[in-house]
Amino acid sequence: MKIYFATGNPGKLKEVSEKFAGIGIEVMQLEDEYPEIQTSQLEEVVRWGLDWLWERHKVPLMIDDSGLFIKVFDAFPGVYSAYVFKALGCEGVLKLMEGVDPRQAEFRCCAGYIDGNGQVVVTGTVKGRIIHEMQGTGGFGYDPIFVPQDQKKTFAQMTVEEKNSMSHRGRAFGLLADKLRE
Ligand code: IMP
Repeated sequence: MKIYFATGNPGKLKEVSEKFAGIGIEVMQLEDEYPEIQTSQLEEVVRWGLDWLWERHKVPLMIDDSGLFIKVFDAFPGVYSAYVFKALGCEGVLKLMEGVDPRQAEFRCCAGYIDGNGQVVVTGTVKGRIIHEMQGTGGFGYDPIFVPQDQKKTFAQMTVEEKNSMSHRGRAFGLLADKLRE
């Protein structure tokens, strides 16, 4: 079985391809990005994006919308994570968090699939904390500043397989794979 994954992010493509390779599904990149609607819910972004892409391509496809939710900032940047990352990067977020304690945060990933029968949408989360300085060179985005609960390494210090085994995206696409096999 082959499924398209619409993303321009090579890091996401690698993680999802590896996750699905384990269950015999080949993931192919669809280089088209949907416009992100203004809403506070990742799921609404995904449902709207799936319909938009389906109208254009009419092939079975998946997308994901993810975000970093920092507790002391009332879950900010959340749905604005991409904008904040472009504007501030990890360094900027660390600056905003200087002297801030506690440092709990959560990554959420909403993953969606669409074909002629309709949509399947699921969410995966991982709790953790924002550390005080960047560590690691792997992964992408906020990976160098996020350490998952009960772990010592940041996502940027893990292999793709390790990150997938506990990450928001690994969990979301694991759930999606289960639903697709039902
Ligand atoms: P989006 O899902 O592409 O909209 O991602 C929103 C923002 O969160 C982007 O700046 C991503 O780099 C960041 N992001 C999404 N997933 C991850 C992840 O697994 N690790 C680190 N940053 C992520």
